[in-house]
Amino acid sequence: MSLFGNIHLIAKQLHSAMLLIAIYSLFIVLADLVSLQFKLVFSIFQVILRIVFPPKEKSLKNENILITGAGHGIGRELALQLAGLCNQLALWDIDIDKCEETAKAIRAKGGKAECYKCDISDRTTVLETASKVRREVGFIGMIINNAGVVPIHPVLDHNPQEIKRVFEINVISHFWMLEAFLPAMIANNHGHICAIGSMTALVGSSNLVPYSASKFAVRGLMQALEEELQEDARKPKIHLTTVHPFIVNTGQVQRPRLRFPRLLGVLKSEYAAKEIIKAIRRNEHEASVPGWLLPLHNIVRSLPMETFGLLKGFMDSGAEAHEGAWHGDALRPIILRQHSTPVLGINQSPVLRHTHHKNGFHRPQMLHVTRQRQISISDLGLHGLLNGKELTQTAK
Ligand SMILES: NC(=O)c1ccc[n+]([C@@H]2O[C@H](COP(=O)([O-])OP(=O)(O)OC[C@H]3O[C@@H](n4cnc5c(N)ncnc54)[C@H](O)[C@@H]3O)[C@@H](O)[C@H]2O)c1
Repeated sequence: MSLFGNIHLIAKQLHSAMLLIAIYSLFIVLADLVSLQFKLVFSIFQVILRIVFPPKEKSLKNENILITGAGHGIGRELALQLAGLCNQLALWDIDIDKCEETAKAIRAKGGKAECYKCDISDRTTVLETASKVRREVGFIGMIINNAGVVPIHPVLDHNPQEIKRVFEINVISHFWMLEAFLPAMIANNHGHICAIGSMTALVGSSNLVPYSASKFAVRGLMQALEEELQEDARKPKIHLTTVHPFIVNTGQVQRPRLRFPRLLGVLKSEYAAKEIIKAIRRNEHEASVPGWLLPLHNIVRSLPMETFGLLKGFMDSGAEAHEGAWHGDALRPIILRQHSTPVLGINQSPVLRHTHHKNGFHRPQMLHVTRQRQISISDLGLHGLLNGKELTQTAK
């Protein structure tokens, strides 16, 4: 056969081989598509089943659990509730006195808790404190990255240090915690990492731009980490849980804006901690407090942005600015009508003084309404926390 004939034959054979590969690839894609359809239906079925019959809550009795920001708020409540469920607690806080108070309360009830002063935004301190914990407590099988800060005012009122601090404490610290504790979890093929997010990690909120951005980042971090651990050849048995609470009565959000406080009001830290522990013990990947918010959000989020925005505007939930935003305001008289829905007459910017509440709720020292509209007490999210009598007594 001539050279030209040979080339022609090779080209023909190559062509049929490529055709075969193309047909084979098409067949593989079709087979994957069929399998995907079955898997999709099965996973939706599994999710429904999980909602109807929630999984059994796992035991934590052999677990040593580390909680950051355990001196106050949600972290303190998590520590108090977990004390009776786990082997030992390692409690971290930048404020060691508050942390010791939490530990004392736990020890008084027969629980085991050790306190460590640690600024979680500082890598060296985190790594050193982690070594100390390993020596004194032993293997930490679960960490709850809870400590966080929430400055609440318009984005341009945040100073550069404040923005950096939000990211250092709320986001970067998670990397130092991973560096300190993940390797041992992988080596022991056992671990659970929980991150306390926020509803502002799902829906951006005014006056909370850096905070919201930091919580979006934490959500991304946890999702990406989950992917990475799933692809890890060692297949480590490490669970990740991210929980997004709505506003909790720890004093971080001093001026909540709530349109329907009976439906979605300020949560008690005891309740928030209980729901977070439930999500952890059920090995949930992601959860909200209250629990119905996340599934509702997932459904509503599939709507076009404008439609989603309308619903968000209707709910009108969030936080009014405090601290810097009200500097320079003088106290002005307020008009208070004591009807079933008490109303503050808002034409100028009234300021209401009120006291510290006996139930431990951090009540604002001043209430400053900047919106030029009539708002009810329930709008301000104080429904059930303030009553008309108190308002009359304390208003100037
Ligand atoms: N309170 C809310 O409305 C709310 C809502 C959703 C999510 N969250 C999130 O829940 C978590 C806890 O919030 P909270 O309201 O209980 O706060 P909190 O202010 O009541 O308590 C936070 C604790 O963390 C400690 N802390 C602060 N910076 C630290 C640092 N650099 N290193 C170590 N400890 C530090 C504080 O000393 C404090 O004891 C935060 O991540 C917050 O973003 C809070």
